[in-house]
Amino acid sequence: MLYNFDKIVDRRGSGAIMTDCLQARYGRDDLLALWIADMYFETPEPIRKALERRLDHQVYGYSIAPESYWQSIIDWEQQVHGWTIDRTQLTFIPGIVRGIAFVLQCFTQPGDKVVVQPPVYMPFLNLPRANGRQLVYNPLVFDEVAGTYRMDLENLEEVCRKEAPKVLILSNPHNPAGIVWPAADLTAVADICRRHGVLVISDEIHADMTLGAHRHYPFPTVSEAAAEVSISFAAPSKTFNMAGIVSSFCVVSNPRIREKFYGYLEANELNGTMFLSTVATEAAFTQCGAWRRQMLAYVKDNVNFVCNFLKDNIPGIVAIRPQASFLVWLDCRGLGLDHDALIDLFVNRARLALNDGEAFGPGGEGHMRMNVGAPRAMIAEALGRLKEAVGTL
Ligand SMILES: Cc1ncc(COP(=O)(O)O)c(C=O)c1O
Repeated sequence: MLYNFDKIVDRRGSGAIMTDCLQARYGRDDLLALWIADMYFETPEPIRKALERRLDHQVYGYSIAPESYWQSIIDWEQQVHGWTIDRTQLTFIPGIVRGIAFVLQCFTQPGDKVVVQPPVYMPFLNLPRANGRQLVYNPLVFDEVAGTYRMDLENLEEVCRKEAPKVLILSNPHNPAGIVWPAADLTAVADICRRHGVLVISDEIHADMTLGAHRHYPFPTVSEAAAEVSISFAAPSKTFNMAGIVSSFCVVSNPRIREKFYGYLEANELNGTMFLSTVATEAAFTQCGAWRRQMLAYVKDNVNFVCNFLKDNIPGIVAIRPQASFLVWLDCRGLGLDHDALIDLFVNRARLALNDGEAFGPGGEGHMRMNVGAPRAMIAEALGRLKEAVGTL
């Protein structure tokens, strides 16, 4: 079956954060919104049908997670990433951001240090801060030849030696720059973290969205050390556009870490499933393979469209081509604008709602993050507006 990703779905009034809090967030309502990381595409029909069938039942009581739910996750990871997961290593998590907070609560104390690699997904910065932990940076380094960032492994070793952090939070693949980390880098991270007793949280929410030939490596699969030092989180929520349904899961290979973390989750009843989550996840992982393949091809074409358009029309903005997912990190420094003028350009002149790069921490200055998980006509409209606005500078 061929799916139509050109179809425009009006999300306004549905309670979508994307469209329904623009006034509060950007100070005006008349914006084309391409910011928060969910897509404009219809959630795949098999997921909607499975939910409708369940919701048709007259009682929405407490519900079990059927074995077929767990098996759908195990089979998916095996088929898509060659990752063999034992059922005992797996648990439900009510959202990855919360999961990261649970790890911080369980394995660190106030004042402990947490390493992040900015520019990076904002909650990686906000969660440790809000919980009284200290952030330590290992900034990503821009590699002009590769046209994207790389990790600074030497500095990571140094930071671990000097600062003695307890935890490293890794975006694997990386948000906002869409980097699929090479296995060698992940192996090196694992070795460094094992040497210094640092627990790695590998957030793999974008793992199922690699573009073209790029291959994702689940962190614990790259080496024994990686399996030993890590907690991985993943979810069908980004890939199948169902982020409003809490559907994340966690995998821990090391029995010692598992006992502590899963014990903490059990003790606080934090890992109980909800029927919407189990029903939607199982449908996603068993019935939506073709949808995913077509969606990724469409997103890849959108990425090409954005990169080419900017190169040909707005040389002051350079798109960092993502290797995974539907977020494009835009380097706008060539426009020569300060922060306020850049935001004014996007919001008031172009009437676009994108993510402000500064929120992603050091290195995010002068950047914007654009969501291209949308019909091409919307992307074309956004780029047209941007070109016109830049022309007024
Ligand atoms: C790297 C990363 N982790 C986690 C999330 C959100 O996960 P959840 O909705 O499961 O908390 C996002 C959403 O944009 C993300 O990009």
